[in-house]
Amino acid sequence: MTSLFTCDASITIDSHLDEAHERGLADDVLDGLTRPFKELPPKHFYDERGCELFDAICELPEYYPTRTERALLQAHAVEIARETGAVELVELGSGSASKTRVLLDAMAADGGPGLTRYIPLDVAESVVRASAEALVTEYPGLLVHGVVGDFERHLSRIPRADGEQRRIVALLGGTIGNFPPGSRRRLLREIGELLGPEDRLLLGTGLVIDTPTLEAAYDDSAGVTAEFNRNVLAVVNRELDADFPLDGFSHIAFFDRQHEWIEMRLRALRPCSVLIGALGLRVEVAAGEEIRTEISAKFTRERVEEDYAAAGLRLDAWYEDADARFALSLAGRVS
Ligand code: AVJ
Repeated sequence: MTSLFTCDASITIDSHLDEAHERGLADDVLDGLTRPFKELPPKHFYDERGCELFDAICELPEYYPTRTERALLQAHAVEIARETGAVELVELGSGSASKTRVLLDAMAADGGPGLTRYIPLDVAESVVRASAEALVTEYPGLLVHGVVGDFERHLSRIPRADGEQRRIVALLGGTIGNFPPGSRRRLLREIGELLGPEDRLLLGTGLVIDTPTLEAAYDDSAGVTAEFNRNVLAVVNRELDADFPLDGFSHIAFFDRQHEWIEMRLRALRPCSVLIGALGLRVEVAAGEEIRTEISAKFTRERVEEDYAAAGLRLDAWYEDADARFALSLAGRVS
């Protein structure tokens, strides 16, 4: 671990990902591109350009999850803060933390539980640092302890609660949907193990809705999602000295009704022979061949409850918007 230098005494940042290879990029590329059905895991989208593109996606007219979740937080954050009594907020996959302020405001408000510490964990160091710096200015007295890491590997590095301080562990945006069902339950179980008896998980989940609305959200007319999708090839090119032709791949997004998830793929427009220099690996991609780059599962309340049960968690509260597009839920650990 490296403790990164900060100028502000209210900020601590620990990094567990000093090098791109510590994100597991090389291993993931080696596994993913030597399979019969090629695949690259979605966490590698988020270099600086990827984070910018994702923030742009959140503003798109077709991409409803961010604004729906923000509205839900605005409607229910005060109740969530009061019900949980949490004074610390741990946020997994915090990104630019744009929705976080709604929760922090509710915790800090008069009559709220009070606000002591914010603990963001994200793979992107630049966003952890930038949000830490912004938040300590906006919330005087707030301590920020950022963790640069991968929440499949570094959950144990999250600092412990101080004494009896209650906390909310938030996993927002529908990020849980990036995990296939078994890994999803494993992750929920590991998060559950971080929770004290009074702590709560706050989970954001996209819901199963009509296919055209879902597919438009992942295939916008301005082509931002397409660029975000192809950015993973730029990351592999830069970090692993590869030569993927970005213009040789088209963006595919479709809703798989059987699995109830959106799948994003990159489809080769022509045959290409790609050299991944850092791995000494040559990969042949046939014309029309597809590389899966993301799944984004959509849920029903029943499915969330089943996953919670399998992970030793209990649903405490459920909030969804009037169009039933997105839900926030609170869960506690089954003792
Ligand atoms: C950040 C994982 C929640 O799955 O909706 C947005 C990522 N991918 N558009 C999602 C994403 C394409 C997003 N999450």
